[in-house]
Amino acid sequence: MCVGTWQWGSKLVWGYGKDYGEKDVCEVFGEAVASGVNFFDTAEVYGWGASERLLGGCIAREKTAPPPVVATKFSPMMRWSRKRPAKALAGSLARLGLEKADLYQVHQMDGLKSIPKWMDAMADAHDKGLVGAIGVSNYYPDAMAVAIDSLKKRGLKLATNQMHFSLLFRRHERNGLLKMCRENNVSFLGYMPFAWGVLAGKFSKDNPPKGFIRHRVANKNLVERAGPLLKLMKDIAWKEKDRTVSQVALNWAAAKGAIPIAGVKTRKQAREDFGALKWSLSQSELAELDAASDSVGPQPLKTIWTS
Ligand SMILES: NC(=O)c1ccc[n+]([C@@H]2O[C@H](COP(=O)([O-])OP(=O)(O)OC[C@H]3O[C@@H](n4cnc5c(N)ncnc54)[C@H](OP(=O)(O)O)[C@@H]3O)[C@@H](O)[C@H]2O)c1
Repeated sequence: MCVGTWQWGSKLVWGYGKDYGEKDVCEVFGEAVASGVNFFDTAEVYGWGASERLLGGCIAREKTAPPPVVATKFSPMMRWSRKRPAKALAGSLARLGLEKADLYQVHQMDGLKSIPKWMDAMADAHDKGLVGAIGVSNYYPDAMAVAIDSLKKRGLKLATNQMHFSLLFRRHERNGLLKMCRENNVSFLGYMPFAWGVLAGKFSKDNPPKGFIRHRVANKNLVERAGPLLKLMKDIAWKEKDRTVSQVALNWAAAKGAIPIAGVKTRKQAREDFGALKWSLSQSELAELDAASDSVGPQPLKTIWTS
């Protein structure tokens, strides 16, 4: 499992500073490390650098041994020249207080033609020892094939592809991307495993997701349509003490071969979510969840970047 840190420092979408803050995200860090979850995902754009800064602060304070595995991303939407990723990486490493990013990812796909340019820039950073492994994000099969090919020319391999993936967004099971990742030994990192909280079972038709951006991604129609799926998730979770709906969401993604990236804000959420590591779904539960997810309808969850 990976801890997603978009929430850390991000005010616009997540409301950082209102009902949670630095103390909470540091507690999440501590809970993660104590639970054996030592993989963190951030990006230069999360909170315009605040997420990297907060994560770096936790790493410096806790001095965890061995140190956590840190993944960050550069945003091609903000940078046009091949030289820019080097500048972006220097900024990210300074905010994180690290000499090297364990995993450096291209955050979005900005056209097939640009991919060799970005992969060359990533390979340059790797050759300088600033990057451990190279990843991409939001790369569909055709784009991932170009990335794999470009890195091969530099004697390197693509380590990861980070994509939207949950019981409410299963496109990559169907378009062959998950299979392609398996066949090419590329780890598939699944983001938004809770569909922004809907699959944590906390919303209802009368208590839908709120917030200017949030309610557009996960609105009350979706919560209503997902009702039977959410009921099944609760039935599975509540079969045993200490299991939660959010754990069902994470274990479903893991059973499909993804490494779920859980967006976690508070100690309470951390304790619940990291508890997913203690159990797994049976084949019959998995089949029931697949069927209930199918009955919600095709591609019900849309985001501005993966619709
Ligand atoms: N590469 C990309 O383009 C991309 C895009 C999106 C995300 N990501 C990465 O993936 C990570 C995860 O995705 P995400 O954060 O967007 O969405 P997510 O993980 O589906 O949802 C996160 C939200 O779920 C809720 N939650 C988590 N655990 C809970 C629990 N135990 N009980 C109740 N609610 C719980 C929290 O909602 P509240 O806010 O209501 O507390 C939290 O803010 C991000 O942090 C980021 O690292 C990458």
